[in-house]
Amino acid sequence: MKIAVLPGDGIGTEIVAEAIKVLKVLDLDLTLETAPVGGAAFEAHGHPLPPATLQLAMDSDAVLFGAVGDWKYDTLDRPLRPEQAILGLRKNMGLFANFRPAICYQQLTDASSLKPELVSGLDILIIRELTGDIYFGQPRGRRIATDGHFPGSEEAFDTMRYSRPEIERIAHVAFQAAQKRNKRVTSVDKANVLETFQLWKDVVSEVGKQYPDVALDHMYVDNAAMQLVRAPKKFDVVVTGNMFGDILSDAAAMLTGSIGMLPSASLNAKNQGLYEPSHGSAPDIAGKGVANPLATILSAAMMLRFSLNQPEAAVLIEKAVDAVLSQGLRTPDIYSAGTTKVGTREMGDAVVKALAQAS
Ligand code: IPM
Ligand code: MG
Repeated sequence: MKIAVLPGDGIGTEIVAEAIKVLKVLDLDLTLETAPVGGAAFEAHGHPLPPATLQLAMDSDAVLFGAVGDWKYDTLDRPLRPEQAILGLRKNMGLFANFRPAICYQQLTDASSLKPELVSGLDILIIRELTGDIYFGQPRGRRIATDGHFPGSEEAFDTMRYSRPEIERIAHVAFQAAQKRNKRVTSVDKANVLETFQLWKDVVSEVGKQYPDVALDHMYVDNAAMQLVRAPKKFDVVVTGNMFGDILSDAAAMLTGSIGMLPSASLNAKNQGLYEPSHGSAPDIAGKGVANPLATILSAAMMLRFSLNQPEAAVLIEKAVDAVLSQGLRTPDIYSAGTTKVGTREMGDAVVKALAQAS
């Protein structure tokens, strides 16, 4: 099994190094090949997603991704910015199904900004469509307006669009995920205003008829944002488009109090996947050895489960993470009084040790 390792920028290199340490203890037959991506690739090769990096990713069973981005690239032309690397990988690999679990670890309940009773035991799964919507819709650009409120002025525009097959396939992913969980799907749309999301709602309802064991409800995105902070435990699987999913998944992540704990997976139709922490490159703490590596380590677990067919190994990693939390080890982002503050490397070492003891 071949894994493309793309550490990227900022804390990406530090956290990916810990995940690799963990994977190596498991003694699976994995070939790891590293390539630059994001700002690091721009510095080395003049492009955030060099052809060799893309080729390596396409030829691998899975991609283990760190994070990309730094403020210093904000003034580059858009096609050269680090974020284009992740968008290019999603598009070229066809990674249309993005899984973003938001799980509140019992040991970290106090880290949430919500009252403990609202989040204790929280386990929801946001499924975000990842290759369509306004992110990729054409046409887009800038021009001089010929109509609208200010004809003759400069304007910018993007296109929100979804086709029936794009909605069908992500709906199937959501219903099938719900079948393995609490059998509830909430489809989030803006059908009261947008044509795109009226089609979304209609198609998700149609697909839902094939899954009579799963309860489906529909929610407008503004209401969904409110319900997520009002009563998050009412959700099981949330399925939504690319743009709404981007926003709602950040909100959901913060409910758990610790975006540094949350993994994610982006899959294509062949179960090839890209696995990355839900958080970004955090340039403000890069190189300081304080970043939380657990989201990346848990992403490696998701990789073993979804793309490499090693569910037992995935469970071992998840149990090891649980064990280090129970030992009271905390990186600064999840630290609270009475626990032990550790750095990135110590946290990785502790997971390695817990794994070695379990296996
Ligand atoms: C995410 C990020 C990306 C997105 C950016 C970095 C392009 O915010 O994965 O949620 O908007 O999809
Ligand atoms: Mg985002």
